[in-house]
Amino acid sequence: MRIAVTGGAGFIGSEVVRQIIEQTEHQVLVIDALSYAGNLQSLKPVSSHPRYRFSHSSVCDRQVISQLFTEFQPQIVMHLAAESHVDRSISGPDNFIEANIIGTFQLLEATRDYYQQLPSTEQALFRFHHISTDEVFGDLAETNDFFTEQTPYAPSSPYSASKAASDHLVRAWHRTYQLPIVVTNCSNNYGPYQFPEKLIPLVILNALQGKPLPIYGKGEQIRDWLYVADHARALLRVALEGEIGETYNIGGHNEKRNIDVVNTICQILDERFSEKPQGITSYSQLIQFVADRPGHDKRYAIDASKIAQQLDWQPLETFESGLRKTVEWYLDNQRWWQAVLDGSYATVEPISYQQEGDKS
Ligand code: NAD
Ligand code: TYD
Repeated sequence: MRIAVTGGAGFIGSEVVRQIIEQTEHQVLVIDALSYAGNLQSLKPVSSHPRYRFSHSSVCDRQVISQLFTEFQPQIVMHLAAESHVDRSISGPDNFIEANIIGTFQLLEATRDYYQQLPSTEQALFRFHHISTDEVFGDLAETNDFFTEQTPYAPSSPYSASKAASDHLVRAWHRTYQLPIVVTNCSNNYGPYQFPEKLIPLVILNALQGKPLPIYGKGEQIRDWLYVADHARALLRVALEGEIGETYNIGGHNEKRNIDVVNTICQILDERFSEKPQGITSYSQLIQFVADRPGHDKRYAIDASKIAQQLDWQPLETFESGLRKTVEWYLDNQRWWQAVLDGSYATVEPISYQQEGDKS
């Protein structure tokens, strides 16, 4: 198959691309605007592979996307490109409206044009897979309540509202224009190559540098943590085998309070390092409770039984095993995160996708 992956230089997208190249025979075209969260170093393990292509392009640019589709002839489009960090959406929502809503709209229109011109045998194979979040459902109060595929949308933040809007657009393009789509909504991901603004990598790197570990409010909010490699496996299964028009929730069965997540990271580091940063005997002494996030969602938890039953997918990592792997990855890959912290990752030149005979 030829698979186009938007946002393939990001945290989850790059895991999907590495899995496609390393574990399948499919070809991949990464389409990424290389925002602050796009990092070509995350694609380095596969970027010289003959089945890999990269285009430094925005999903907002319909003409460019159309041209890329004409050249690459994707059979599957996996749409992960987005602005993804809730705190940034609160301090500056503009980019979220542009990338997540307008970007999805432009991509859908380019895809619709392309799809309509395909021969019917290719149309029968084609699918557009939209990758979204459980944050579109708002939050849960009761501990025995879970998000299902039927849960009504009630987004709280500019980020989740923009993702909800994009989900609605994708479903409308299916209903109105018969574009073959599948949608997935997943819980909080963690693992290697995550930009250190999200809770888990931020805490690991701050701890290693002896900096404060900021916990919003009292740290009692609950997230359902999903190891990124488990998520990417689920995405590929849905992209290749999911039923057209269907939505699948993907979760890790790992509900944890933020304070417990941070304390577990501290425990792992305490065991790992007998010598601690100056003035402390345990990393947990670096914890600092700070002002809460406005509109902070209390609890997310996914009922992932549909994807388990219909597509035979289960997460392989427990939170404990995934978190240990993640901490070890950051310890072993200081060059990756040092380049992110000092900004030098953004200067890596993309090797752009060029058709034979393309002089540009
Ligand atoms: P990320 O921020 O790490 O990566 C996003 C990627 O999209 C970056 O490479 C960025 O350069 C690219 N991008 C941004 N705007 C673009 C544009 N206009 N055109 C092309 N590329 C653009 O995000 P992530 O954590 O990898 O998330 C990927 C997807 O999964 C997003 O759609 C996000 O909403 C969704 N999601 C993420 C999580 C999570 O826990 N990280 C959970 C649920 C859903
Ligand atoms: P985050 O990783 O930003 O993901 P999301 O907001 O999409 O769930 O945050 C995870 C949880 O951790 C969330 O409840 C907010 C909290 N948090 C902190 O307490 N401190 C921090 O510095 C960050 C970034 C997040």
